[in-house]
Formats: sequence, C-alpha cells, structure tokens
Amino acid sequence: ITLATGAPLDASKLKITRNPNPSKPRPNEELVFGQTFTDHMLTIPWSAKEGWGTPHIKPYGNLSLDPSACVFHYAFELFEGLKAYRTPQNTITMFRPDKNMARMNKSAARICLPTFESEELIKLTGKLIEQDKHLVPQGNGYSLYIRPTMIGTSKGLGVGTPSEALLYVITSPVGPYYKTGFKAVRLEATDYATRAWPGGVGDKKLGANYAPCILPQLQAAKRGYQQNLWLFGPEKNITEVGTMNVFFVFLNKVTGKKELVTAPLDGTILEGVTRDSVLTLARDKLDPQEWDINERYYTITEVATRAKQGELLEAFGSGTAAVVSPIKEIGWNNEDIHVPLLPGEQCGALTKQVAQWIADIQYGRVNYGNWSKTVELP
Ligand SMILES: Cc1ncc(COP(=O)(O)O)c(C=O)c1O
Repeated sequence: ITLATGAPLDASKLKITRNPNPSKPRPNEELVFGQTFTDHMLTIPWSAKEGWGTPHIKPYGNLSLDPSACVFHYAFELFEGLKAYRTPQNTITMFRPDKNMARMNKSAARICLPTFESEELIKLTGKLIEQDKHLVPQGNGYSLYIRPTMIGTSKGLGVGTPSEALLYVITSPVGPYYKTGFKAVRLEATDYATRAWPGGVGDKKLGANYAPCILPQLQAAKRGYQQNLWLFGPEKNITEVGTMNVFFVFLNKVTGKKELVTAPLDGTILEGVTRDSVLTLARDKLDPQEWDINERYYTITEVATRAKQGELLEAFGSGTAAVVSPIKEIGWNNEDIHVPLLPGEQCGALTKQVAQWIADIQYGRVNYGNWSKTVELP
C-alpha cells in the first residue's frame, strides 16, 4: 500500500469538542447490536490538495453532504468492524486493531480513496473511546463495537478518482450475539447468486459487496434457512457464510486424524481477523498428531459425501460480531445435510473451544501475542 500524498494523518492535531449532554449507560439487557451509539464521533477530512486534515472528536450527529457526492452514486464507501472490551482490571482493550487498519487501507486503495497511517487512526480511535469510556459495557459478551468508515465526498457526477473524502468512526455498545448461549443455525447452500468472484472485490470491505447479498438471504429465509452458504463456480466451492468466514471439521476415517478446513485467501474471501485468529490458535494449540489445519478449496459435494460417511464432525462461521456461529444443517439439492452437535448442546467441541480461547484473550484473562491493544486512559 502506498500512502496517499499530501499531509499524513496526524493524531497529534486532534481537536476535541465535548458533547454537552453526556448520556447514561443503558442497562446491559437493552443493548441491541448497532442500534445505539455513543456520545461522540471522530471525523477526519481529506482532500487531494491538502491531504489529511484536522481530526475532530465531536458530538455524534448527522453529516451534511452535497447530493451529488460520489458516495451516493458510485459507491465510494468502505468500512471496518472491530471491538473494544472492558477487562477484569477495568482497562479497555481493542482486539487486533492493526489487522483492521491494514484491511481498511487495502479497501481504500482498491477504490481510489486515500490511504492513511494505521497507527495514527488506532491512536485517534483510542481517544474517541476515552471520551465515551463510561459507555463501554462490562461483562462477558459485552463490548464496544467500533465502525470506522470512509466515503468519497467529491461533488459532481463524473465517474473518477474522488478528490475529497471523509474518514469517520462511530461506536456502539453491544451485547452478546447469543444472549442465552449458542444457537446453531441452518444454512442454504446458495449457487443461484454469487457473493464474490475472481478479479472482483470480495476480499475488500466495500459497502458495495453487502447490498446485493440481502435479497438471496431473504430468499433463503423464505425456505427456512437463516443464512446463505455462498458457493462459487462449477465445482461449487464453499467460500463464506452470510457475512462470516466459514470452517468445517472433517474426520479422516483411514488415518483417524481430524482436519480443520477453510477456504484459501484467493481474492474472493474476506480476510477475516477472526478467521486469522482461529487458524493461528488452532495451529498453536491443537496437537499436530491429531489435527491437520488446512486452507484449501473444498466443495459442497465433499461436505455432503463426507456427512453421509460420518466424516463431517462440525462447522462454524467466524466473524467479529458473533466470534463463532455454529452450524447445524445445510440445505442442498433438496436435502438437509446434518452437522453433528455435542449432545444436548448447540455447538461442536472445537467450536466451543475456539470461542473460549478467543474470549479469554479479548477480555484480557489471557495474554496472547500482541493481540490486545490497551486504550490509554488518563
Ligand atoms: C463478508 C465477510 N466475511 C467475513 C467477515 C469476518 O471478518 P472479521 O473476522 O474480521 O470480522 C466479515 C465481517 O466482519 C464479512 O463482512
């Protein structure tokens, strides 16, 4: 990634305008994902002439844009999603923000929006969290969802490189995805719509990737399935599920070894931070005598066949919102492929283990790598 020309993004230029009406934290049980926001937002303007302007933390509120702004017409928009957690020591940490910033820069570069200094945006996001620290919820499963966004704001209907942009960050206190423990989902293996394709932008977090995926989800829902399992190509490769990466666990009955599989990063798969965390932890912690961990192509036919042979052990989606989302059934070819769950539970053994490993790191109960970035609080 080459950084945008002009002034670099500089956190030391930050200006803060306090919200005169600070809100009270809502009770945990009232937190609904992405519905309420904190008192402040961060905005940073950019122009081709000047580069990055003054970062400003100010009261959360509407944006004012020209109706011809390129974001409204040609989808110059990208975003990120990450979370901050309150630890038992009452510190606040962000989970692997460097990964999100790197991905955000890749998304920006792909649609000719300006790149930025990742470390500076991490610092500024920390300052934003500091302003609203009283709204970061406490408790297992509770966190502050952080939504960095970048839009092209140039006026005019000519299709071209935006000469003006706005980077902004909003945050939302959120509760656990599964309020009463895991709930395994039913998926429809979808080959009548395609989420991403070779040479496309499926590996970038562009808003334009998301709107076209709602109609297929409604179609699947009509048939009783919560999410689409996105297939690709004549081989019907398994790629992702809904807006998550997806993992399958197979048993090789000949060798007795288990295999954790997910699709390779070939440009059609979003480079999920949770996906990377699952792979890293699995490679680190699972016994290589018992486990193979593979990023490889695999098809719905392989899943269907191996399920019939008793070689399908479990399956789960991975993403920031839910961390892991267990799968219990997959509709394909007018049949349901059954995915085993632990007796009396809503997930498989590895799914449960992975959820625990990641939660322990996110909530600061376990130190791992440099994955937790502490927010400096005065
Ligand atoms: C299409 C898609 N795949 C996968 C993911 C999971 O990525 P992450 O683990 O970084 O949240 C997301 C979003 O979060 C996504 O939108």
